[in-house]
Amino acid sequence: MPIIAPSLLSADFSNLKKDIDLVNNSEADWFHIDVMDGGFVPNISFGFPVLKDIQKYAEKPLDVHLMIVKPDQYFKKFRDLGADIITIHYEACKHLHRSIFAIKELGAKAGVSLNPHTPVSMLSEVIRDIDVVLVMSVNPGYGGQKFIDNTYDKLKELTALIEKKNASAQIEIDGGVTLENAKKLIDFGCDILVAGNTVFASKDPIETIRELKNI
Ligand code: DX5
Ligand code: ZN
Repeated sequence: MPIIAPSLLSADFSNLKKDIDLVNNSEADWFHIDVMDGGFVPNISFGFPVLKDIQKYAEKPLDVHLMIVKPDQYFKKFRDLGADIITIHYEACKHLHRSIFAIKELGAKAGVSLNPHTPVSMLSEVIRDIDVVLVMSVNPGYGGQKFIDNTYDKLKELTALIEKKNASAQIEIDGGVTLENAKKLIDFGCDILVAGNTVFASKDPIETIRELKNI
């Protein structure tokens, strides 16, 4: 069964507790938390004060996706605010190997994300050190975008790289995940499905999460 990580980016910020409880009471496994700085991506989402309140009520692991420049300076802060998985972007890290180990030293799982234009081969020298590879299947910055079809080729390359290097990284897919493409994504090796719009814009988010989990 896939790990389901609803993205709070599509939640109702005027009543965030309601949506946190919804995820708590659903078959979802993780909270996916998108932090955007208006520099690495064109959008700004939320930061530490909001995360502090999420941590208060969330009863499942916090999967924190950092779409920010110079993320290293904030690892400890995010870890202290309850991040269980800290994911950084390949494109934002000059010394990716160092950043991966800095995350692990804090006791969190280290995730590395690839933008749609970044080849999988960029991870070949660190794939054995990574806990989660987050494949962006839209250009990061916004929820509710259309899935980029070239992602399937990248997933094939990524599963081949993981096998070739005898690595154990899990594959997380983020952007445009729907009830229609979820099965295919699992068949292509995805272990973790992030879903924002599909969950929170649906009539019955708890049921939608159940369907994704049992697809
Ligand atoms: C986009 C974020 C995603 C976003 C996904 O930059 O990383 O996590 O919330 O949203 P959907 O599932 O609506 O495409
Ligand atoms: Zn994300």
